[in-house]
This record gives sequence, structure tokens and C-alpha cells, in this order.
Amino acid sequence: MSSYEEAFRQSVEDPESFWLEAAKAVDWDTAPTRALDDTQAPSYRWFPDGALNTSVNALDRHVAAGAGDRTALIWDSAMVPAKKTYTYAELLDEVATFAGVLRDQGVVAGDRVIIYMPMISEAAIAMLACARIGAVHSVVFGGFAAKELATRIDDARPVVLVTASGGLEPGRTVEYLPMVEAALGLTKTPPHTVIVKDREQIPGSAADYKASTAAWFDWDELVADSSPAEPVSVAATDPLYILYTSGTTGKPKGVVRDNGGHAVALTWSMRNIYDIDAGDVWWTASDVGWVVGHSYIVYGPLMAGATTVLYEGKPVGTPDAGAFWRIISENNVKALFTAPTAIRAVRKADPDAEELTKYSIDTLETLFAAGERLDPDTYEWASRVLERPVVDHWWQTETGWAIAANLRGLDPMPLKAGSPTVPVPGYRVEIVDAHGDLVKANTEGNIVVRLPLPPGTLTGLWQDEDRFRRSYLDTFPGYYLTGDSGYVDEDGYVFVLGRSDDVINVAGHRLSTGTMEAVVASHPAVAECAVVGIRDEIKGQRPSGYVVLKAGVEIDPETLRQELVAMVRDQIGAVATFRDVTVVQALPKTRSGKILRKTMRQIADNEQYTVPSTIEDPAVLEALRAQLGG
Ligand code: COA
Ligand code: AMP
Repeated sequence: MSSYEEAFRQSVEDPESFWLEAAKAVDWDTAPTRALDDTQAPSYRWFPDGALNTSVNALDRHVAAGAGDRTALIWDSAMVPAKKTYTYAELLDEVATFAGVLRDQGVVAGDRVIIYMPMISEAAIAMLACARIGAVHSVVFGGFAAKELATRIDDARPVVLVTASGGLEPGRTVEYLPMVEAALGLTKTPPHTVIVKDREQIPGSAADYKASTAAWFDWDELVADSSPAEPVSVAATDPLYILYTSGTTGKPKGVVRDNGGHAVALTWSMRNIYDIDAGDVWWTASDVGWVVGHSYIVYGPLMAGATTVLYEGKPVGTPDAGAFWRIISENNVKALFTAPTAIRAVRKADPDAEELTKYSIDTLETLFAAGERLDPDTYEWASRVLERPVVDHWWQTETGWAIAANLRGLDPMPLKAGSPTVPVPGYRVEIVDAHGDLVKANTEGNIVVRLPLPPGTLTGLWQDEDRFRRSYLDTFPGYYLTGDSGYVDEDGYVFVLGRSDDVINVAGHRLSTGTMEAVVASHPAVAECAVVGIRDEIKGQRPSGYVVLKAGVEIDPETLRQELVAMVRDQIGAVATFRDVTVVQALPKTRSGKILRKTMRQIADNEQYTVPSTIEDPAVLEALRAQLGG
């Protein structure tokens, strides 16, 4: 039996021993004597009698072990441009002091703190500072606008909001403070305090908002007047963070992560999946606003004692397609984790990888990809130009770490283009048909995971147990529904083909078509609409809107498009990348009124499709096909 097979077998046959053994790699205040608590099944808890502090595991323990001088974090901004490094001792100092600031503002264990920040070190410092005092952070991606921020504030009810004067995007600055102010005006439950990290490149500071509904303070001023906070010991089952992610409806889902299971799973994953140990340099080119950033810019690498790179910039255009290679060579990066869309962007700008010849990337051993499917073409290009393993792995905000991967530190396996390889120990991945029956190898179906999920995965949705069960557990009892469809081949390799719901994936960003439809439908000229994710050469998918005008309304299609694009940008944010609008006579529907979004997408993508037997009026589909040229 290979070491992978042995680990997998043990993880499912004897999860108690497997995960209690893995838990030994974590520093506990009270070591757990039990791994799984199944008394509330189908909701599960891990390490029910353990207590720990996540920031101690990320920082203090390494300093105490004598590694205080090791580099913990390298902030590299291609946008300013600027660079700053923090040793473990320095990062601990910054985190403990900012934790003191939060304490001084009255934040106590269990309170929520919203972090709305660009890719600067202070974002990671704020997250770790919350963890230090047992507060629950909720990071909101900087590409979301005021209304999305307000929705998250309404749900999480934070006491403090930590932000910065803004972010730097190519060719423009993004001022955060007017958006924060607008969000405070929209929410029913504003935080009592806003803390602003002032960036000299971006106008606006806390002092400009003295008359607002909350008390606004300057980060640096508060830090200068504060003292370090001691870590608070929390139950392993206490929440570490809430991270909102797109569901099929307009309201985002607040995925809750615990402290203990998360620490054990991420520590295990750094060594066994990514082959990263203390002292290695690791770089995840993502954003702290996404789960990938939480797990593998901040918590995973620091808990492993590695050096993590926090990059503010893009793969291309900041200033060129050599940005990734520069960072690898300047910082001796051992492994890079990014989204396939970033690789496609580099390839488009530099098809022969000429930029690569300007740098030495000898230290790079592996390129990891996730966030969307690594298509075989991109996989082959990257493997060829890098001459190193390019490793796809599949996961979701909900799971917090990989469901399927090629475990480079445990048992590297042959790579197959288009597959993230095999289920990770702890995840019993199965494929079922619409009735919940298991299907044969190579047959497409719903990808589900037999319960319980391993440690580190979501423990629920924030204060919405009903939605948690409806969304993930009720469809196929005994299983977690991933929302993805795909198949497993005869060698046990998993192939993920795409979402089976109305969630779309644009440039590795998970977005809800439902949220966009709600905005588009609010335009006075629009009677009804559908937004579907169509194929995009670089971003994988992009949203495409189809609108039916109200009877008697006359509006120039380009004017309508511009107005709708502006509305989506204003209400959801630039990250929605909503640019396409087509006016149609009618939307294809089933007899029960459900819009046939999948068929619309297939027509727009020029794919084969079968006309559903439940269709209300086949002529509508025919007209759409004729109009879209399929
Ligand atoms: N704050 C404010 N605006 C942001 C933003 C942020 N943090 N991130 C993106 N935006 C804006 C962009 O400036 C852009 O605005 P524009 O319409 O004015 O040009 C818009 O949102 C769309 O952004 P994006 O889809 O990211 O396109 P892009 O052209 O800026 O970059 C890629 C394209 C492929 C280079 C980029 O998407 C990328 O690097 N993706 C990696 C994805 C990733 O990290 N995923 C996380 C999971 S691993
Ligand atoms: P997010 O929650 O933003 O991480 O998005 C999760 C979704 O992204 C998954 O449900 C998949 O649809 C998609 N996804 C992420 N990684 C992969 C991958 N390696 N292969 C295929 N799809 C992926």
C-alpha cells in the first residue's frame, strides 16, 4: 500500500487516531483527548475538549522556539512599488500591539471585527490580532462596493471595522473610506469604531470622518498609545472567522471556521500537500479577501513556520508579465500557489515566456493552482515553460483546504491534465446521480463528500443553521453537497467539470449570478433578466446579462448596457466584471417558470444542448439561438 493509500485508509477507518496524531503538530493550551464530536450530527465538531490560540501557533511558538529572527512575512507591492520584511519577532510585536488596540476599543472574545483592506501587511496583522484575543474576523474583499460591505456588516454585526485609506489598482486608486461611510449609512448595525490605516498614496484619513455614525481612529495613532495584548485561550470549537461567499441567492453565505480543526488541518496540509516546512519560502498570489488568502497567505504558512509573501499587484501589467518570476527570484520562493486565470494572463502577454529568461527561478520546485479548473492547455503550457510540476488542487471556501490534491509531501503521484488528482485524506469523495445513487467510474454526476467532513472545514453558516443544512446537507442525506459536478476515473482521479448551480467563477473569483440579476432587474426599463456565466479566454468565465424590456419601453441598447454596467459596478463592485448585455424578446423557461440558465449558457458558448422536456415554449429557445448565432 502506498503512503497515500495508507494515510487515506487510516483517515476514514480510524479518524480518531489519525487526527489526534495530526493534532500533535499544534501547540495546545489544553490538548484534546477526542477528535470527533458527532453528538450533533449531521453537524460535527472537531477536538471538542481542546483549547488553543491560533495566533500563538502562527507566531509565538516559533519565537519561543528560537526562530524570532526568521523572516515571517515579505510584503511586496508592485503597485507602490515597495517592499518590507518582518521577522517572526517583529510580526508578533505588531500583532500583539494591534490586538492591544482592539482590546482598548472594547473588543472581547467572540466579538466580530470586519476587515476591509487591500493587500498590505496590516490586513494580515489585523486578522492575527483578532485571533489573538479570540475575536472573530470577517474579511471583506476590497473589490466589493458599499452595498456588499453593508450586507456583510448586517449579518456579522461587528463592533469594529478595520480598513485602510485605499487600494492601488493599475492606473487608478480605489478610495475605501467613502465606501465605508456609505456602507455605515446602509447598515442597520454599524460598528461603533472604524480604524483606518492611512496610506500616503491614497487620499482620505480617519480625521475626515469625525462627524460619522461611528468613531473613526487612525491606526498608527492608536498603535502608538497601546500596549501588547496577551493571547486568549479559546475552545477549539470557537469560531476563528466568518468568510462570506457567494451562494445561489443574493445573500452571501457566512462560512464559519473554527480554531482547532483549522489549525490541525492547515498544519497537516502544509507538510503533506505542499511539502513546505519551517524556513521555506512560500507564496500564494491571491488576496486576503478570499479563502485562499486566509488559509495560504496568512494562517497555513505561518503555522508551519515558513516565510510567506504577500503581494500587492497583478500577474501582468505591474509592470509586465515577468512580475511572478521577479518575486520568485528575489525571494527564493520554493512554491507558488495561484489561480489558472493568472497563468493564462501571463501566457497571453508573453506566450513564449521571454520574461522568464531575465530571472533565475531555480528555487521554485512546484506551481500549485486552484480557484477554478486548471484546463489542460494552460497546464501544458505552464509545465513546458517552467519545467516543473504544475499541480492542480480542488477546494472551496466552505472546506478551507483541499478536497482533492496531489500530495507532494506525502506521496507525489503522476499528474493527469484536467484532474486535481485524488481525494485528500479525510475526504470520502463520491459521485451520485440526481437520485443520490452512486455512479460508475467515468460517469459525470454531483460531487459529494460522505460525512463527516475532516477538520478545518466549515462548522456551519453564521447564525443560519437552517440554510447550512438546506444548502449542503439535505439534498443527499449523509453527504456534503459540493455544488460541483464531475467524475472519478478508473484510477480514482477526480475530475471537476464546473458548478451545477448558479454560482460562477470569474478570474478565480466566486460570484453569484443571483446578486447581479437583482441589480439588473432593478433598472426601470427591465421586465426580467438572467445572468449566466459564459466562457472567457482569460478569466475562465464572465457574466453575461440577458434582459427583456418592459412593454412599451424604448431605450438604445448601448445606453442600457452602460447604465446596467454602472449599476452593477456601483452596487456589487468592479470585481463583478459585468460588461455584456443582450436585449432579448423572452427568456427560455420551464413550465414551472424556472429560467433555463444552463441551456442559455450552452447556446452562448456554442455547445451542444438538449431541449429540456419541461420547456414552456421551444420557440423562445430557437429565437435565442438565432439571435446569439449558435
Ligand atoms: N479592489 C478594488 N478593485 C479591484 C480589486 C480590489 N482588490 N481587485 C480587482 N479589482 C477590479 C479591477 O481593477 C478591475 O477593474 P476594472 O474593471 O476597472 O479594470 C475589476 O475589478 C476586475 O478585476 P479582475 O477580474 O481581477 O481583472 P483584472 O483585469 O484586474 O485582472 C487577472 C485579471 C487575471 C490578472 C486577475 O484577475 C488575477 O490575478 N486573478 C487571480 C485570481 C485570484 O487571485 N483568485 C483568488 C483565488 S486563488
Ligand atoms: P471558492 O469558494 O471561491 O474557493 O470557489 C470554489 C469553487 O471554485 C469550487 O466549487 C469550484 O467550482 C471552483 N474550483 C476551485 N478550485 C478548483 C479546481 N482546482 N478545479 C475545478 N474547480 C475548482
